[in-house]
This record gives sequence, C-alpha cells and structure tokens, in this order.
Amino acid sequence: MIRISTTVLTATLISLLAASGLALAHGNVVPQAVATEGLEPLGAEWRTENPYRDSKDHGRALEIGSSAYNQNCAACHGLEAKSGGIAPDLRLLDVGVAGDEWFVERVRNGAVRDGRVYMPKMADYLSQEALWAVRTYLDSVHVEE
Ligand code: HEC
Repeated sequence: MIRISTTVLTATLISLLAASGLALAHGNVVPQAVATEGLEPLGAEWRTENPYRDSKDHGRALEIGSSAYNQNCAACHGLEAKSGGIAPDLRLLDVGVAGDEWFVERVRNGAVRDGRVYMPKMADYLSQEALWAVRTYLDSVHVEE
C-alpha cells in the first residue's frame, strides 16, 4: 500500500493552489491597448494631478476610463472597482490631488516586495492619457470607507 504523509500532501496542495491562483491572475492580466482619441494629449512628463478632472474632456475620459479599467485592472481589483479581496478596493482611493499622487506612484512603479510582483508597472503598458482616464473613472465610483 502506498502511504503519503499528510504533510507532503498538504504542501503539495498548497503549492498547486498557489500555482493555479497565479496562473489565473496572470492569465487575465494581458494588458489591452486603449484608444485615447478625443483626449487632450499629455506628452511624456507625468502630471501630478488628474488633467481631465475639470476639463472639457471629462466625459470622454470617463467613458474610456471605465472600459480601460475593466480590461486592465478589474482582474485584480474587481469589476466596477469593488475588490474581491485580492487587491485593494480602489473606490476608497482619496478623491483629489493626494489620491492622484498615490495613483501615479502605483501605476508607474507597480508594487514589488521581496522580488514578488503584486502589481505590474501598468504605465509600461498603458499611456498616461489612458491611465488618467482610469483615474477619472475611479473618482466617479468613489465611496467613503
Ligand atoms: C496583477 C494584479 C494587478 C493588476 C492587473 C493591477 N493591480 Fe493595482 N494593485 C494590485 C495589488 C496586489 C495592490 C496592493 C499592493 C501592495 O500590497 O502593496 C495594488 C495596488 C494598487 C493601488 C494602491 C491602492 C491602495 O489602496 O494603496 C492603486 C492605485 C492601483 N493598484 C491601481 C491599479 C490600476 C489603475 C490598475 C490598472 C491600470 C491596476 N492597479 C492593475 C494588483 C494589481
């Protein structure tokens, strides 16, 4: 009779779960190109404040941002920004400049700790215009904690 120790079995199960979880997360996170026609072009230098917040482009930014969010962020942060628990609930991000700065920090640098990528550098895949559009969308679904 073949005996498998429960420790080995548990360890195997845990690593299988971890591997499938990762595969799932990464499988959904192929960045999607975002068309930003109709938005004021921003150039290479990053703004510190959402340029579309009080602009004539606000409506267009909302439209583009909603779809760009769902294609590029929702796999981790949840549909409609309602976190399923894998990543922070982005509806809670501060509205205004403080939230803008933290948003830029994360989308440009991602989140890497001890060599593990928790969040990729999204600005490597999406333009500044697309990301400020996402920020505009997030403002529109903001809730207080
Ligand atoms: C592969 C999963 C993944 C994807 C895709 C992803 N994120 Fe994240 N994001 C995370 C995780 C995990 C954290 C928390 C990082 C930590 O623990 O430090 C995070 C943190 C953040 C934060 C900081 C939130 C806070 O409360 O401190 C912002 C802002 C953010 N992400 C925005 C985005 C946006 C915008 C997109 C899409 C353009 C995106 N993320 C795509 C996983 C992801």
